[in-house]
Amino acid sequence: MSWDDEAATWDTQPAVRAYSKAAFQSLQRVLMERGSNLTGARVLDFGCGTGLLTEQLAAEAERVMAVDVAQAMVAVLREKNIGNVEPVCGLLNELIESGSLSMGAFDLITCSSVCSFLGDYPAAVAQLAALLAPDGLLLQWDWELEDGADDAMGLSRSAITAALSAAGLTDLSVGVGFTETVEGFVMAPLLGVGRKP
Ligand SMILES: C[S@@+](CC[C@H](N)C(=O)[O-])C[C@H]1O[C@@H](n2cnc3c(N)ncnc32)[C@H](O)[C@@H]1O
Repeated sequence: MSWDDEAATWDTQPAVRAYSKAAFQSLQRVLMERGSNLTGARVLDFGCGTGLLTEQLAAEAERVMAVDVAQAMVAVLREKNIGNVEPVCGLLNELIESGSLSMGAFDLITCSSVCSFLGDYPAAVAQLAALLAPDGLLLQWDWELEDGADDAMGLSRSAITAALSAAGLTDLSVGVGFTETVEGFVMAPLLGVGRKP
Protein backbone atom coordinates (compact mmCIF):
# COMPACT_ATOMS: atom_id res chain seq x y z
CA MET A 1 0.00 0.00 0.00
CA SER A 2 1.32 3.42 -0.96
CA TRP A 3 0.17 6.53 0.89
CA ASP A 4 -0.18 8.20 -2.49
CA ASP A 5 -3.00 5.77 -3.30
CA GLU A 6 -4.90 7.06 -0.24
CA ALA A 7 -4.66 10.73 -1.16
CA ALA A 8 -7.81 11.17 -3.26
CA THR A 9 -10.15 9.70 -0.66
CA TRP A 10 -8.28 10.40 2.62
CA ASP A 11 -10.30 13.46 3.58
CA THR A 12 -13.62 11.71 2.94
CA GLN A 13 -13.06 8.99 5.57
CA PRO A 14 -15.12 9.64 8.73
CA ALA A 15 -12.61 7.88 11.02
CA VAL A 16 -9.70 9.87 9.62
CA ARG A 17 -11.56 13.16 10.04
CA ALA A 18 -12.66 12.28 13.57
CA TYR A 19 -9.09 11.24 14.46
CA SER A 20 -7.59 14.55 13.35
CA LYS A 21 -10.28 16.55 15.14
CA ALA A 22 -9.78 14.63 18.38
CA ALA A 23 -6.00 14.85 18.02
CA PHE A 24 -6.24 18.63 17.72
CA GLN A 25 -8.47 18.81 20.80
CA SER A 26 -5.96 16.70 22.75
CA LEU A 27 -3.20 19.05 21.57
CA GLN A 28 -5.16 22.05 22.83
CA ARG A 29 -5.61 20.29 26.18
CA VAL A 30 -1.87 19.60 26.48
CA LEU A 31 -0.99 23.20 25.60
CA MET A 32 -3.47 24.52 28.15
CA GLU A 33 -2.15 22.17 30.86
CA ARG A 34 1.35 23.42 30.11
CA GLY A 35 0.33 27.08 30.14
CA SER A 36 0.86 27.50 26.42
CA ASN A 37 -1.15 28.08 23.24
CA LEU A 38 -0.75 28.27 19.49
CA THR A 39 -0.74 32.05 19.15
CA GLY A 40 2.41 33.10 17.33
CA ALA A 41 3.68 29.52 17.18
CA ARG A 42 5.93 28.25 14.40
CA VAL A 43 4.75 24.71 13.81
CA LEU A 44 6.10 21.70 11.93
CA ASP A 45 3.42 19.13 11.10
CA PHE A 46 5.52 16.09 10.25
CA GLY A 47 3.75 13.38 8.26
CA CYS A 48 1.02 15.89 7.50
CA GLY A 49 -0.75 13.80 4.85
CA THR A 50 -3.49 15.88 3.23
CA GLY A 51 -3.31 18.37 6.09
CA LEU A 52 -6.36 17.53 8.19
CA LEU A 53 -4.44 18.42 11.35
CA THR A 54 -2.42 21.12 9.55
CA GLU A 55 -5.60 23.06 8.73
CA GLN A 56 -6.61 23.22 12.37
CA LEU A 57 -3.11 24.22 13.50
CA ALA A 58 -2.94 26.95 10.85
CA ALA A 59 -6.16 28.55 12.10
CA GLU A 60 -4.37 29.53 15.33
CA ALA A 61 -0.62 29.34 14.72
CA GLU A 62 1.59 31.92 13.02
CA ARG A 63 2.76 29.51 10.34
CA VAL A 64 2.86 25.79 9.71
CA MET A 65 5.42 23.90 7.69
CA ALA A 66 3.71 20.68 6.61
CA VAL A 67 6.05 17.87 5.60
CA ASP A 68 5.21 14.50 4.11
CA VAL A 69 7.01 12.02 1.89
CA ALA A 70 3.95 11.17 -0.24
CA GLN A 71 3.62 13.53 -3.20
CA ALA A 72 -0.08 12.95 -3.79
CA MET A 73 -0.93 13.59 -0.12
CA VAL A 74 1.02 16.86 -0.17
CA ALA A 75 -0.64 17.81 -3.47
CA VAL A 76 -4.07 17.61 -1.81
CA LEU A 77 -2.88 19.92 0.95
CA ARG A 78 -1.29 22.30 -1.59
CA GLU A 79 -4.65 22.59 -3.39
CA LYS A 80 -6.24 23.79 -0.12
CA ASN A 81 -4.06 26.89 -0.55
CA ILE A 82 -3.89 27.89 3.13
CA GLY A 83 -2.05 31.20 3.43
CA ASN A 84 0.19 30.43 6.41
CA VAL A 85 0.91 26.80 5.47
CA GLU A 86 4.00 25.74 3.54
CA PRO A 87 3.51 22.23 2.17
CA VAL A 88 6.78 20.39 1.59
CA CYS A 89 7.31 16.96 0.09
CA GLY A 90 10.50 15.16 1.09
CA LEU A 91 12.42 12.99 3.51
CA LEU A 92 13.31 14.44 6.89
CA ASN A 93 17.07 13.95 6.67
CA GLU A 94 17.21 15.38 3.14
CA LEU A 95 15.20 18.45 4.15
CA ILE A 96 17.57 19.00 7.09
CA GLU A 97 20.67 18.52 4.93
CA SER A 98 19.36 20.93 2.27
CA GLY A 99 18.60 23.57 4.90
CA SER A 100 14.84 23.51 4.23
CA LEU A 101 14.38 22.62 7.90
CA SER A 102 16.52 24.62 10.35
CA MET A 103 17.70 23.74 13.85
CA GLY A 104 15.67 25.41 16.58
CA ALA A 105 13.12 26.82 14.14
CA PHE A 106 9.91 25.42 15.61
CA ASP A 107 7.92 25.99 18.79
CA LEU A 108 5.78 22.93 18.18
CA ILE A 109 6.20 19.72 16.20
CA THR A 110 3.24 17.43 15.62
CA CYS A 111 3.48 13.87 14.31
CA SER A 112 -0.01 12.49 13.88
CA SER A 113 -0.08 8.79 13.10
CA VAL A 114 3.26 8.72 11.32
CA CYS A 115 6.04 7.64 13.71
CA SER A 116 5.28 3.93 13.58
CA PHE A 117 5.76 4.00 9.81
CA LEU A 118 9.29 5.40 9.99
CA GLY A 119 12.27 3.16 9.23
CA ASP A 120 14.19 4.41 12.26
CA TYR A 121 11.72 6.03 14.64
CA PRO A 122 14.21 6.91 17.44
CA ALA A 123 16.60 8.55 14.95
CA ALA A 124 13.77 10.57 13.41
CA VAL A 125 12.62 11.78 16.83
CA ALA A 126 16.18 12.88 17.61
CA GLN A 127 16.26 14.84 14.33
CA LEU A 128 12.88 16.39 15.06
CA ALA A 129 13.91 17.33 18.60
CA ALA A 130 16.90 19.22 17.16
CA LEU A 131 14.47 21.33 15.13
CA LEU A 132 12.67 22.53 18.28
CA ALA A 133 13.38 25.88 19.89
CA PRO A 134 14.02 25.87 23.66
CA ASP A 135 10.76 25.09 25.48
CA GLY A 136 9.31 23.76 22.24
CA LEU A 137 7.00 20.75 22.39
CA LEU A 138 6.87 17.58 20.32
CA LEU A 139 3.59 15.66 20.25
CA GLN A 140 3.07 12.30 18.58
CA TRP A 141 -0.06 10.18 18.26
CA ASP A 142 0.27 6.48 17.44
CA TRP A 143 -1.77 3.31 17.89
CA GLU A 144 -0.74 1.51 21.06
CA LEU A 145 1.27 -1.70 20.89
CA GLU A 146 1.96 -3.96 23.85
CA ASP A 147 5.62 -4.18 24.91
CA GLY A 148 7.52 -6.60 22.69
CA ALA A 149 4.95 -6.61 19.88
CA ASP A 150 6.32 -5.87 16.42
CA ASP A 151 3.86 -4.17 14.12
CA ALA A 152 4.15 -1.26 11.69
CA MET A 153 0.82 0.04 12.94
CA GLY A 154 1.82 1.19 16.38
CA LEU A 155 4.31 1.86 19.14
CA SER A 156 4.48 0.81 22.77
CA ARG A 157 4.50 3.26 25.67
CA SER A 158 8.02 2.18 26.56
CA ALA A 159 9.29 2.65 22.98
CA ILE A 160 7.85 6.18 22.86
CA THR A 161 9.21 7.07 26.29
CA ALA A 162 12.66 5.73 25.38
CA ALA A 163 12.80 7.61 22.05
CA LEU A 164 11.63 10.93 23.47
CA SER A 165 14.06 10.62 26.36
CA ALA A 166 17.00 9.60 24.13
CA ALA A 167 16.24 12.64 21.96
CA GLY A 168 16.92 14.82 25.01
CA LEU A 169 13.31 15.83 25.57
CA THR A 170 12.06 16.32 29.13
CA ASP A 171 8.75 16.66 31.01
CA LEU A 172 7.58 13.57 29.17
CA SER A 173 4.06 12.26 29.24
CA VAL A 174 2.84 9.18 27.39
CA GLY A 175 -0.72 7.96 27.67
CA VAL A 176 -3.99 7.60 25.79
CA GLY A 177 -4.49 10.87 23.91
CA PHE A 178 -8.22 10.57 23.28
CA THR A 179 -10.98 8.05 22.88
CA GLU A 180 -13.28 8.39 19.91
CA THR A 181 -15.70 5.86 18.41
CA VAL A 182 -16.58 6.00 14.73
CA GLU A 183 -18.89 3.45 13.12
CA GLY A 184 -18.21 1.03 16.00
CA PHE A 185 -14.44 1.39 15.74
CA VAL A 186 -12.90 2.59 18.99
CA MET A 187 -9.85 4.79 18.48
CA ALA A 188 -7.68 5.34 21.56
CA PRO A 189 -4.17 6.18 20.32
CA LEU A 190 -1.22 6.96 22.53
CA LEU A 191 -0.12 10.56 22.78
CA GLY A 192 3.54 11.12 23.58
CA VAL A 193 4.69 14.60 24.61
CA GLY A 194 8.17 15.93 25.27
CA ARG A 195 9.66 19.38 25.83
CA LYS A 196 12.98 20.71 24.57
CA PRO A 197 14.92 21.97 27.59
C1 LIG B 1 -1.82 7.64 8.67
S1 LIG B 1 -1.25 8.93 7.61
C2 LIG B 1 -1.48 10.34 8.64
C3 LIG B 1 -1.59 11.61 7.86
C4 LIG B 1 -1.95 12.84 8.69
N1 LIG B 1 -1.00 13.10 9.74
C5 LIG B 1 -3.35 12.69 9.27
O1 LIG B 1 -3.46 12.56 10.50
O2 LIG B 1 -4.32 12.72 8.51
C6 LIG B 1 0.51 8.68 7.66
C7 LIG B 1 1.29 9.71 6.87
O3 LIG B 1 2.68 9.55 7.16
C8 LIG B 1 3.41 9.79 5.98
N2 LIG B 1 4.75 9.22 6.09
C9 LIG B 1 5.10 7.93 6.16
N3 LIG B 1 6.44 7.81 6.23
C10 LIG B 1 6.95 9.08 6.23
C11 LIG B 1 8.25 9.63 6.29
N4 LIG B 1 9.34 8.85 6.37
N5 LIG B 1 8.40 10.96 6.25
C12 LIG B 1 7.31 11.77 6.18
N6 LIG B 1 6.03 11.30 6.12
C13 LIG B 1 5.86 9.98 6.14
C14 LIG B 1 2.57 9.15 4.91
O4 LIG B 1 2.92 9.60 3.62
C15 LIG B 1 1.16 9.54 5.35
O5 LIG B 1 0.75 10.76 4.76
